[in-house]
Amino acid sequence: MANTNNFKIKSLYQNDVDKMVELQQIILDEVKEKGKEGLFRENTRGMFELCVQSPNHSVGIFDGDKMIALGILFDGLGTDEDLSTDLVKHDVRGKVSRRYKSTDLKDKTIQHISANMKLTLVHPDYRGMGLQIILLNKLEALAKFFGYTHLCCTISPDNAPSISNVEKCGYEFDHKALKYGGLTRNIYVKEINGSYMY
Ligand SMILES: CC(C)(COP(=O)(O)OP(=O)(O)OC[C@H]1O[C@@H](n2cnc3c(N)ncnc32)[C@H](O)[C@@H]1OP(=O)(O)O)[C@@H](O)C(=O)NCCC(=O)NCCS
Repeated sequence: MANTNNFKIKSLYQNDVDKMVELQQIILDEVKEKGKEGLFRENTRGMFELCVQSPNHSVGIFDGDKMIALGILFDGLGTDEDLSTDLVKHDVRGKVSRRYKSTDLKDKTIQHISANMKLTLVHPDYRGMGLQIILLNKLEALAKFFGYTHLCCTISPDNAPSISNVEKCGYEFDHKALKYGGLTRNIYVKEINGSYMY
């Protein structure tokens, strides 16, 4: 049993990308072995490099030097990763896909801006310790600080542990959709009311 006193959580940078790729590979092998390939999308090294660069942010949990979990907050404005335009139930459609500019800050009509809680991965040997929730909470705190007002994420309907965790964190189911070239995904959203401090 791992000694949780050795665990550290930290922001990830370019020099962590090798470990991100390695952790993803361990979990890809796991889901392949279980015949659950559609559970999450494989990220290229290039994508992980993007995920550690502003305005995106990644955090990792380490047991000593070993990366045992990672989480990614992705801005994704104007790309497939921008889920704001997918939202149906929430009163943010069409408004969230704009980014604040300094000149917009006084414009009260621009009230919403979302980020994508893109991915969380927990090493199979470290499951059941609540690490996904720790990552979601850490990234949410950062998202608030950065000024996002909504967090969105997509989850496979077959991913019971992940659905349970995002719901525990207060995300609400919005709708089911075909995403990423034909994968069925539940889309979740959480209002976080972050605000710029300047
Ligand atoms: C989803 C995931 C991040 C959750 O990990 P976690 O934070 O360790 O999950 P929890 O601590 O909430 O575990 C809750 C329970 O579910 C079990 N569990 C967690 N993930 C599981 C999995 N993939 N398969 C079977 N059981 C799992 C745990 O063992 C635990 O059981 P216990 O309560 O009897 O101990 C992890 O399963 C994972 O990395 N999955 C593969 C990648 C993935 O699907 N990422 C999310 C994409 S949206």
